[in-house]
Amino acid sequence: MNSILEIHGRKLQVPIIQGGMGVGVSLERLAGAVAKEGGIGCISTADCGYREEDFYKNPEEANLRALRQEIQKAKELSDGNGLIGVNAMVATQQYDDAVRTAVDAGADVVISGAGIPMHLPELIPAGKALIAPIVSSGRCIRLICKNWWNRYKRTPDFVVIEGPEAGGHLGFKEEDVLNNRCQPLLQILSDVKQELKQVEEIIQQKIPVFVAGGIWDNKDVEEALQAGADGVQVATRFIGTEECDASDAYKQILVNASSEDVRIIHSPVGMPGRAIYTPMFERLEKLGRIRPKHCSRCIKTCNPGEVMYCITHALIEAARGNVNEGLFFTGSNIDKLDRIVTVKEVMENLKLGWKAGEHA
Ligand SMILES: Cc1cc2nc3c(=O)[nH]c(=O)nc-3n(C[C@H](O)[C@H](O)[C@H](O)COP(=O)(O)O)c2cc1C
Repeated sequence: MNSILEIHGRKLQVPIIQGGMGVGVSLERLAGAVAKEGGIGCISTADCGYREEDFYKNPEEANLRALRQEIQKAKELSDGNGLIGVNAMVATQQYDDAVRTAVDAGADVVISGAGIPMHLPELIPAGKALIAPIVSSGRCIRLICKNWWNRYKRTPDFVVIEGPEAGGHLGFKEEDVLNNRCQPLLQILSDVKQELKQVEEIIQQKIPVFVAGGIWDNKDVEEALQAGADGVQVATRFIGTEECDASDAYKQILVNASSEDVRIIHSPVGMPGRAIYTPMFERLEKLGRIRPKHCSRCIKTCNPGEVMYCITHALIEAARGNVNEGLFFTGSNIDKLDRIVTVKEVMENLKLGWKAGEHA
């Protein structure tokens, strides 16, 4: 099966997206390494300036400055291969500025979830960068397509579907995740493809679909392609790489953890999140609240005076390797992460998923 995918003149050697991971888990190093192997490397815009000296004094400026630098560095590391994208969360205060800055700094792709990216086309002139929403249901892609077409005469350049096995924030109701009542990924894929059919007829163009959540190896890729996906988005497996931008302690926590250590946590973003049960999680359960120390004004709906815990602080401390205070997001496939490898090794294995179809 041919792995080359061209989306509006932008050629991908292999349709693998490294899923954006905030805070600080996917920055320039990981994104650059994935692009170098022909995929889409994604920098998470969420508080991506946390390593800047003035981050706590002026988080907005530090984030946008760092974002520009990270995109440039990722492009250098990619050796001109693949594409460099950003993952921007709708729920963040800096969403509009981060998207505009990323495109101005040369990002090829903007992928957007954690909320419905209703006004994304407004932020990016057509053709400047590929735009893609992350959805978890057929209903959601219908809503987005209808809205984008009515307001902007635009459609998604591609779509990422995130299923219930994904890491980080999940686009499902908390009780449905906890009670295993979510639609499986490949069923959502079928619904989304059905919805996109009508749009594709109108624009006379195919809209590629990438699936995410629990994709680990070439066998998963093969299954996804057979079910009609055009590509995959992978995140947790990339945490176990040398190039991942998180601290070694983050990587080791995931290497040592098993699925029994994974829990669903309520996030101040207003969505459930999947994470490892660490001391911060335990403290939160005992105390009910961990009062924020700083505020980087990250989430639109957050009230620091009342919030249960500061999601930015918890994620930054995880990226730094602070086992005591950090919140360590993960996908459900954690049992398979047992050693640190290179991005090249992961990509070589995933690429085999396309080879399988060659003799069919
Ligand atoms: C540590 C971590 C952080 C994540 N952060 C984000 C994020 O900032 N924005 C987002 O849209 N998705 C985020 N995700 C979701 C991933 O981009 C991806 O879609 C999902 O985890 C795929 O499932 P997998 O981890 O099983 O491969 C995160 C996932 C992880 C594991």
